[in-house]
Amino acid sequence: MKKQVLVSGGAGYIGSHVTVELIEAGYDVIVADNMSNCDLTCFEGVKKITGRTDLPFIKMDFCDKAAVDQLFTDYKIDAVIHFAAFKAVGESVAEPLKYYSNNLISFMNVLDAARTHGGCNVLFSSSATVYGEAEVLPVTEQTPRLPSTSPYGNTKQMCEDILRDSVKAYEGIHGIALRYFNPIGAHPSALIGELPRGVPNNLVPFITQTAIGKRECLSIFGKDYPTEDGTCLRDYIDIVDLAKAHVAAVSRMVNGKMEKEYEIFNVGTGRPVSVYELVTKFEKVNNLKLNYKFVDRRPGDVMAIWADTKLANEKLGWKAERTVEETLAAAWAWEKHLAENR
Ligand code: WQD
Repeated sequence: MKKQVLVSGGAGYIGSHVTVELIEAGYDVIVADNMSNCDLTCFEGVKKITGRTDLPFIKMDFCDKAAVDQLFTDYKIDAVIHFAAFKAVGESVAEPLKYYSNNLISFMNVLDAARTHGGCNVLFSSSATVYGEAEVLPVTEQTPRLPSTSPYGNTKQMCEDILRDSVKAYEGIHGIALRYFNPIGAHPSALIGELPRGVPNNLVPFITQTAIGKRECLSIFGKDYPTEDGTCLRDYIDIVDLAKAHVAAVSRMVNGKMEKEYEIFNVGTGRPVSVYELVTKFEKVNNLKLNYKFVDRRPGDVMAIWADTKLANEKLGWKAERTVEETLAAAWAWEKHLAENR
């Protein structure tokens, strides 16, 4: 019998790519989302890519404890991947309670339902933001977490701790936290991708929206960092590669391959790329000129962070495969697809 995976927040950017890869790897998937930060574009795209027109979709809020419990009653869930959370760093500073209540309560509801329904494998979507401005690069999973500068980052640290403590206390709950670096790009079909509401906070959607003419000019935040070209360094991970890391982590859990009840993996490429490099690669691979200017540093930005990926490579048998160029071509194809279809 096929194993069944619940994907909370499954209609969003990362959730939709993960759903595709899970289905292609032979899992049954239940997508659940409250649609607070997306529409049905990506869910429809997932159905087209996979041919699964009957893919279950449940519109629900994971802060509704009774609804989460009902879901675990209605379906036999072998693993849950929890994406349902708010993710805008700046907004979290302005509205901390919105972030603490949504991000923590939804996750605790998932864990409590897992506990009361006889246990479950739980994958939490964490972030490299937990490392802050690390002293030694690249960061390994052993690199100490630093106090977060935003409520958003705090919720990622707190949820990791809640998962760690829950697997210790409750029999039958196993957990993996994946710490994502900077997910970018889109599915090669251009049928799913990132769909930010309003002005994008993140670099690549701002680049593609500038290229298509939705934004006038990209601001590159800071040109005086002590890096080779003066701009920040990040580890940009292709969204399909990132999605495949989830499949590897789910397989490890459902096939009883975990070495501890709670494990953490970095999900990155291990390659630092500067903002300026990314911009020039985008121009080159897509054969266009981007309107950009250098402006002051953005408050709160770390100068550099990239992953040591050894643990994920070895234990998950997973490795990022796509080149930055392929990823930037896919991001542009998605933006053009949106312009032609919306
Ligand atoms: C990348 C680089 C900017 C926009 C954040 C969260 C993290 C994760 C991903 C998600 C930085 C520069 C950006 C622009 C620019 N969370 N930049 N002009 O800050 O590394 O990580 O998003 O949900 O937790 O902290 O990503 O894409 O915002 O920025 O120059 O218009 O691009 O300064 O160096 P970041 P980002």
